[in-house]
Amino acid sequence: MHKTSRTLAFTAAAILLIRTLAVADQDVPADLPSGKALYQHHCATCHGQTGWGDGPNATLLRVAPANFHQFRSFLKSDEELLRMIEHGIVFSPMHAWTGNLTERQMIDVLAYLRLLSQQEQ
Ligand code: HEC
Repeated sequence: MHKTSRTLAFTAAAILLIRTLAVADQDVPADLPSGKALYQHHCATCHGQTGWGDGPNATLLRVAPANFHQFRSFLKSDEELLRMIEHGIVFSPMHAWTGNLTERQMIDVLAYLRLLSQQEQ
């Protein structure tokens, strides 16, 4: 095989593989127990056990942690919230989680956060 076509074939295979992974990621439903454990371990100190933005560290921060029950949070799309979890928010204690959590774990934690935001307590 010519070198260029080999490179092309390899690239095509790589793109196919990436697409398959991405699709698989969306097809598998979020793992709520995993999301809950991750949330309690990493997020509750600021956002609070039930997502009201009232964790023990909340009062120490310059910027108040998001209260996931508020409309401004609630009405954001999953995509939007996921980007914030991945990349963090500038000039805010909310740092990026990419590197600490896998994409899958961030999807799980987001699903749990959504569940919390629908609960009264
Ligand atoms: C050190 C405290 C802290 C920790 C830990 C923390 N956050 Fe945050 N988070 C914040 C603050 C503060 C904001 C609000 C930032 C702003 O409005 O500028 C925020 C905002 C957010 C937002 C955006 C909400 C919105 O509607 O704009 C999401 C989503 C979020 N956090 C998810 C998480 C998740 C998931 C975790 C755990 C993996 C986490 N945070 C851990 C402090 C924290």
